[in-house]
Amino acid sequence: MENLKPSYIKTFEKDDIALEAKDLSVLYGGTVQKLFDASLQFKRNTITALIGASGSGKSTFLRSLNRMNDKVATVNGEIIFHDLNVNKNNINVYELRKNIGMVFQKPNPFPKSIRENITYALKAHGQTNKKELDKIVEESLRAAALWDEVKDTLDKSALALSGGQQQRLCIARALAVQPEILLLDEPASALDPVSTSKLEDTLKQLRSKYTMIMVTHNMQQASRISDYTAFFHLGHVIEYNTTAEIFTNPKGELTEDYIQGSFG
Ligand SMILES: Nc1ncnc2c1ncn2[C@@H]1O[C@H](COP(=O)(O)OP(=O)(O)OP(=O)(O)O)[C@@H](O)[C@H]1O
Ligand SMILES: [Mg+2]
Repeated sequence: MENLKPSYIKTFEKDDIALEAKDLSVLYGGTVQKLFDASLQFKRNTITALIGASGSGKSTFLRSLNRMNDKVATVNGEIIFHDLNVNKNNINVYELRKNIGMVFQKPNPFPKSIRENITYALKAHGQTNKKELDKIVEESLRAAALWDEVKDTLDKSALALSGGQQQRLCIARALAVQPEILLLDEPASALDPVSTSKLEDTLKQLRSKYTMIMVTHNMQQASRISDYTAFFHLGHVIEYNTTAEIFTNPKGELTEDYIQGSFG
């Protein structure tokens, strides 16, 4: 049996922590455990990459952070956000997801206009002032580095955009409700290299305002844009450190094996 004990888990000063998972465990179907006591602190205004082999529990962990696993799994442990354990029954998950937004692997714009994709959630929350909505549309699209490409076609269908543009629209949509944290599950895996590079530039710029946690299979991508990296193996967090340390000087044998096997 492999030693699945963590080899190193980085921690931060309390004031620097935007989100923290404490002993998070996930069971599917009430019995099959796929995540084991994951404890990770995420530093404000940084990008953290979650890496590990297929099936190692990265998405399971990520989806638990904003309660996307509620309907399919039992999630035990604490998720601390603003001194509050948000992994509790009495938490309004819709409010939570406004603060902790998510972008998925496959771009999934609504079959509506570009503008409506961004205003949809705001309108649902009672925002009706057209001027204010227009302002948020522009700001969100600018933040997602899409404004220049779509400013003249805001009322055209979002489905007419390229995959890379759709993914940046999904980021704009997530930003429109002003989250603090953005969860991204392999956001570039469906994109070509040019779109991927644009998306990476976008994420790097967003770091000044947001805290991002991103699953990626692309080691070059993790090393290009993330500040910290957590390595998952068989549902365990094995190592968590600065990206530079993880990639050049891993402490655990499992981490080293994975990094060596995945680069190149
Ligand atoms: N909804 C579900 N119901 C039952 N089992 C699930 C569910 N989602 C994931 N699993 C299982 O949990 C384990 C971890 O899956 P998860 O999707 O978290 O892995 P991952 O690290 O994101 O993998 P990948 O890199 O392939 O996306 C796998 O064994 C998977 O089959
Ligand atoms: Mg996954």
